[in-house]
Amino acid sequence: MSRDHPIIVGNWKMNKSLEEAKSFVEGLVPKLEESDVVLLAVPFTLIKPSVDASAGSVLKIGAQNMNDASKGAFTGEVAALMLKEVGASFVLLGHSERRKYFGESNEFIHKKLLRAFKDRIDPILCIGETLDEREKGHTEGVLDSQLAEALEGVKNLRKLKIAYEPVWAIGTGETATPDIAQEAHHFIRQWLNGKYGEEVSSKLLLLYGGSVTEETCKTLLGEEDIDGLLIGGASLSLDSFVKIVHDSRYAKRDVS
Ligand code: 13P
Repeated sequence: MSRDHPIIVGNWKMNKSLEEAKSFVEGLVPKLEESDVVLLAVPFTLIKPSVDASAGSVLKIGAQNMNDASKGAFTGEVAALMLKEVGASFVLLGHSERRKYFGESNEFIHKKLLRAFKDRIDPILCIGETLDEREKGHTEGVLDSQLAEALEGVKNLRKLKIAYEPVWAIGTGETATPDIAQEAHHFIRQWLNGKYGEEVSSKLLLLYGGSVTEETCKTLLGEEDIDGLLIGGASLSLDSFVKIVHDSRYAKRDVS
């Protein structure tokens, strides 16, 4: 995966029945081109059927969460190797809804990240500030600590991707402006540059998430440090998602 071609990731959150998932994936697959980089983070129960429905295509299916342990007495949890066994190739870690509703700390997310690296499932680490933190001028401080704590002691970032998802933009209809998103992405890239060097930071894929729509996808992707999009609501409608995938194909080229 290179930064030249946008990566489009849908996050279905806790939505869709088995039938809905199958018909979505079967509808999406024929619309994809070989060069597309399209991923769907689906509920646990829909991983296997979605993987089966997308067999032989470029579409990759992943999970929205996992536990940091390899196995054991953790009722209700799912391990990385279990996800891989049913065909998941990636996992979202530290989504703000996990942090907010399930009390996930940076420390826990850090442990999950280590597990993902160890068990070789590709993590997408989600970070972002709340409205209150932004209004108080703490955005960079929050991003700094989320990155520092999640990546503590991590020497090799392997296939890590990072999604900047400002909490105030998630599910609110208020997409960050391209300038605001770019500013945060630039900060994240500089941070990575400081810790891992230019060679690593210049290649790492940074995704923006938060109320992305068909209308906003292209301008966001036109920004220098926005390599892809993480899409919630608009990934639930096949028409919207396909339009975003199509419009994103040439976004970098059109804008530059
Ligand atoms: P929305 O696109 O619905 O704002 O959700 C964004 C998100 O949380 C993706 O992970």
